Amino acid sequence: MISLKGVSKWYSGQNQSQARVLDQISFDMKKGEFLYLIGGTGTGKSTLLRLLATEEDPSAGQVSLFGYAVHSASESTLRAIRQSIGYIPQDVRLISDLTIYDNVALSISLGGRRALSVQSKTRIHELLERVGLIEKRNQMACTLSGGEAQRVAVARALARSPALLLADEPTGSQDRESAWGLMDLVLRANLTGTSVILATHDREIVRRVRKRCAALKGGRLIFEETLCTY
Ligand SMILES: Nc1ncnc2c1ncn2[C@@H]1O[C@H](COP(=O)(O)OP(=O)(O)OP(=O)(O)O)[C@@H](O)[C@H]1O
Ligand SMILES: [Mg+2]
Repeated sequence: MISLKGVSKWYSGQNQSQARVLDQISFDMKKGEFLYLIGGTGTGKSTLLRLLATEEDPSAGQVSLFGYAVHSASESTLRAIRQSIGYIPQDVRLISDLTIYDNVALSISLGGRRALSVQSKTRIHELLERVGLIEKRNQMACTLSGGEAQRVAVARALARSPALLLADEPTGSQDRESAWGLMDLVLRANLTGTSVILATHDREIVRRVRKRCAALKGGRLIFEETLCTY
């Protein structure tokens, strides 16, 4: 499902001899797996997730998703790959002058709410209920608190029942109860076959929900196969 081979990333102004954000990362992930991505601030978690979300290209190495090498994929393959991914960016990125409902609807169909099937409408309602925002569904995204906007981003990423969920600190702006509510949604998605990579600083979640864990340090990805000591 995911295969990274020798993936490195550096930004302009940095060169190959300087420290790379990501340095020769290789790993494979199978369908249905759950992986925590941990590491201190600035270690490259968001950068790695952006590469996997096909938002950025690696400076070296190869990213393959669903069996396709991203760098040589055709436009239509790339579109299909992107449609199979639910991405919760760290900076959330809602469309501020659309309602909560329309932000989620747009992730299912570019035609927005009018183009939705009954099934999709039911799914959006269920998700908005679960993230505690059903009452606010017609409120503009720009009027939401940071935590509320983040919960919309989680609903938006899950609306299409993606094959792969890339979640960048999805509980970062939540109180404990909301954080566990969101984790419950992510775990349910994983139970029904969605592969998950979840970047987090939330030690309580990592300790209580035991999963495979990989830590970024000095550009390298170190797997902690047995016990996550974070
Ligand atoms: N567009 C960019 N241009 C230059 N440097 C960048 C860019 N994006 C990220 N970086 C650098 O890459 C490094 C990793 O950033 P990244 O946001 O991936 O870290 P992170 O692990 O997600 O941190 P946090 O836990 O704070 O979210 C940082 O040093 C950052 O400054
Ligand atoms: Mg980050």
